[in-house]
Amino acid sequence: MKNITVTTQLTVFETATELPSEIQNLLEQAITIRKKASAPYSNFRVGAALLLDNGKIVLGSNQENAAYPSGLCAERVAIFQAGAIYPEAKILKMAITAASDTNQTKSPIPPCGACRQAIAEYEFKQEDPIEIYFMGEVGAIYKSDSLKNLLPFTFDKNFL
Ligand code: THU
Repeated sequence: MKNITVTTQLTVFETATELPSEIQNLLEQAITIRKKASAPYSNFRVGAALLLDNGKIVLGSNQENAAYPSGLCAERVAIFQAGAIYPEAKILKMAITAASDTNQTKSPIPPCGACRQAIAEYEFKQEDPIEIYFMGEVGAIYKSDSLKNLLPFTFDKNFL
């Protein structure tokens, strides 16, 4: 018997002003699209902004449904849109922000497990890491250099 220890690494930025202007812009776009979320059931709004290697920015917000599982998270709305419109482009960076209508989210909100798996598919396909920045409504921003830091033991096509 032996144990396996998995370590991961994130970078913490206390404020957006510590970030390069390109990332500040991406976060601002994520905030703008977050406000357009359709979240009548959870009142929890998420925005995601992707920067592609062709210079395009693709946005997404969570889209809820009266049949709850039929809704979709902001990250997957954005990443599927990027895959559909620019199938040849690589995704370089992703900015995520989440805010509740009822209480202020002060801690960084990471992408959910299903979104991590969806992002992993694109990272594997493009063979280059996706930088992921995530925050709440206010407060610190966490940066992961790759999806792999957020999803150790990733399931990918090599297992099929
Ligand atoms: N949500 C996202 O958009 N992204 C996540 O990574 C976590 C959750 C959405 C789904 C649902 O509309 C609301 O937040 C509450 O779970």
